[in-house]
Amino acid sequence: AGADLLRADLAGRRVVVSAGGTREPLDPVRYLGNRSSGKQGWALARVAAARGAEVTLVAANVDLPAPFGVRVVPVGTAEELRTAMLAEAPDADVVVMAAAVADFRPATVAATKLKKDSASEPDAVALVRNPDVLAELVTKRPPGQLVVGFAAETGDADADVLAHARAKLARKGCDLLVVNDVSGGGVFGRPDNAAVVLAADGTATEVPHGTKDAVAAAVWQVVLPRLGEPTA
Ligand code: CTP
Ligand code: CA
Repeated sequence: AGADLLRADLAGRRVVVSAGGTREPLDPVRYLGNRSSGKQGWALARVAAARGAEVTLVAANVDLPAPFGVRVVPVGTAEELRTAMLAEAPDADVVVMAAAVADFRPATVAATKLKKDSASEPDAVALVRNPDVLAELVTKRPPGQLVVGFAAETGDADADVLAHARAKLARKGCDLLVVNDVSGGGVFGRPDNAAVVLAADGTATEVPHGTKDAVAAAVWQVVLPRLGEPTA
């Protein structure tokens, strides 16, 4: 942290980071969720604040204390995350979508707890698509704003991890995509990580295996030279 403070290279920058995983309710006590712990987004926020940025962390179900100097906006569902991000993003220099946003939510939410052996006993859960927050942030971004996405990919019969990631970067239209290879399993909830940062200009920066703080610092190193002149 001492070195971070000496290197206040994000001073005067406004940063908005989403972290964690959304939960989509089925009834008052149950939800569809995912395994994201929020640690990588949390590290991105913590490191940016330590390097002088004004940071807002939109945290979806993150069970961690607020990083020092970071404003936290807690959210639950993808729709809540969307609302918070659209409210926070307009005056940001950098927006990072590290959250795992549920692609689908239950089509209906039961007002009362689903019970066994009742007329409401479900035999299937109908799902509807959630909005793509990253794509919407890209279309609504102000001039000069950098938008960073995340992707956890596995290779498959169609393509390897990087090919999937390049296609996703193009599809989403963001400036940078931080790619985690999750083929081997075991990224979620772990303190360490590794990544490749793909840029829309075609460059790829390998981030060696390290702590999520180290990965965060490496991501900010890729972001820094792509920021314009500080505004105010
Ligand atoms: N994302 C988002 N809104 C969604 C889904 C994803 O903003 N409804 C963001 C994530 O926060 C991440 C990026 O999009 O930064 C990529 O997420 P990912 O799940 O890899 O992409 P999808 O387009 O959902 O593709 P897939 O079908 O592979 O899940
Ligand atoms: Ca997805």
